[in-house]
Order: sequence, then C-alpha cells, then structure tokens
Amino acid sequence: MITKNDNIKTSLIVAIAQNRCIGKNNRMPWHISEDLKRFKSLTMGHPVIMGRKTLESILGYLKKPLPGRDSIIVTRNTQTLYPNTQIHQAGTIEQAIEIGQKIAIENGKDEVFIIGGAQIYTQSMTLAHRLYLTKVHRDIAGDSFFPVIDESDWEEIENIAHEEHNPPYSFITLERRQYLL
Ligand SMILES: NC(=O)c1ccc[n+]([C@@H]2O[C@H](COP(=O)([O-])OP(=O)(O)OC[C@H]3O[C@@H](n4cnc5c(N)ncnc54)[C@H](OP(=O)(O)O)[C@@H]3O)[C@@H](O)[C@H]2O)c1
Repeated sequence: MITKNDNIKTSLIVAIAQNRCIGKNNRMPWHISEDLKRFKSLTMGHPVIMGRKTLESILGYLKKPLPGRDSIIVTRNTQTLYPNTQIHQAGTIEQAIEIGQKIAIENGKDEVFIIGGAQIYTQSMTLAHRLYLTKVHRDIAGDSFFPVIDESDWEEIENIAHEEHNPPYSFITLERRQYLL
C-alpha cells in the first residue's frame, strides 16, 4: 500500500549491520563518516520523518535538529513536545508523510525521507517506494533492529562496495518493484 501522493516518493534511509542492528542505547553503534556524508547529501533540503526517540538521539549529539531539513517527529504524545521550534509533530506515520509531502511540494522536492528509528522503520516499510541502505558487513551488538527486507519486493538499482573500510560497508539502493512497473 503506497501513500496518496505518488508523485512524492517516500524513502527510508538506514545504516544496517549484517545482523540488522541499527542502534545501541539510542545511538548509532558505529562511525562511518562516508555514510554520514551520503545521508547528508541525499536528505539535504528534504523533509525528514523520525520517531521521537531518534529526534532525542539527534538532539543529544547535535544539540539541534538536522540543519537544512524540515524535521517531522512522530509521537503518540498529544502535547506539543518542542514548542517555539521549527519541528513539526505528527500523531501517526501517515500524517507525518502527508505533512512531509506538503513541505516537499512547497520546496519543489519529490522525495520525503523516513530516517528512523526501529519502530518507525518497521511500521513504514509497506509505505516506502525506495530504500537507501548502508549495509555494514559485520554483526554489531545493539538493541534496535531493522525489520527483515523481503527481497522479492525490491529491485536493486545501486550497489557500491567499500571493502577497504573497517568495517567494510556497501551503499545499496532498492526500488519497490511495484513502483517500477
Ligand atoms: N542506523 C540507522 O540508520 C539509524 C537511524 C535512526 C535511528 N537509529 C537508532 O534507532 C534507535 C531508536 O529507535 P527506536 O525504535 O527506539 O525509536 P524511534 O522509532 O526513533 O521512536 C519511537 C517512538 O516513536 C513514536 N511512535 C512509534 N510508533 C508510533 C505510531 N504508530 N504512532 C505515533 N507515534 C509512534 C513513539 O513516541 P512516544 O513514546 O513519544 O509516543 C515511540 O516511543 C536508536 O538506537 C537510534 O540510534 C539508527
């Protein structure tokens, strides 16, 4: 099931270990600067949707939301969590995507990014047109995991390996087959 406005792509972007680990103690469990650069260049200027805990993680190390991108947080809390800020708040993932699509259209963009964490990825897999993966070729200990990707749903459109790095990783882009038709 794809969201209403099919002109605006919904893309998940995630860095994921071999054992599907994506986080530990509400932090990223590795540092790959090329991954952060790719994340920045892909998401810059686009709306970014995240769970309340991922926003807290970002605020923990950056002390502010991601610059140059409209942040939309998903929370069941009905109070405004970040008053007097530019942070948008949504009560459901679908509502967050609608807000993101509206902002994307206003800014002349055609893509909305879902940037985590585990709860939000798990619930939005069926809504995604595209997955940008950084696959870290190691098992990593952690407490947050990405859902299993059903390979039959996706076509690989990019795969760039970086075996020289420690840990080695690959940039992989998957497009939903149904969307390619
Ligand atoms: N490797 C990566 O690329 C990557 C990227 C992002 C994050 N991460 C990692 O992921 C971890 C955080 O993931 P997480 O699963 O703990 O938290 P999360 O998905 O970031 O946020 C969870 C929160 O989102 C809200 N929420 C979830 N489902 C909802 C729904 N259906 N409707 C409304 N609100 C909903 C709830 O907020 P309330 O409790 O306020 O209601 C919930 O507590 C961290 O370790 C972080 O470092 C990794």
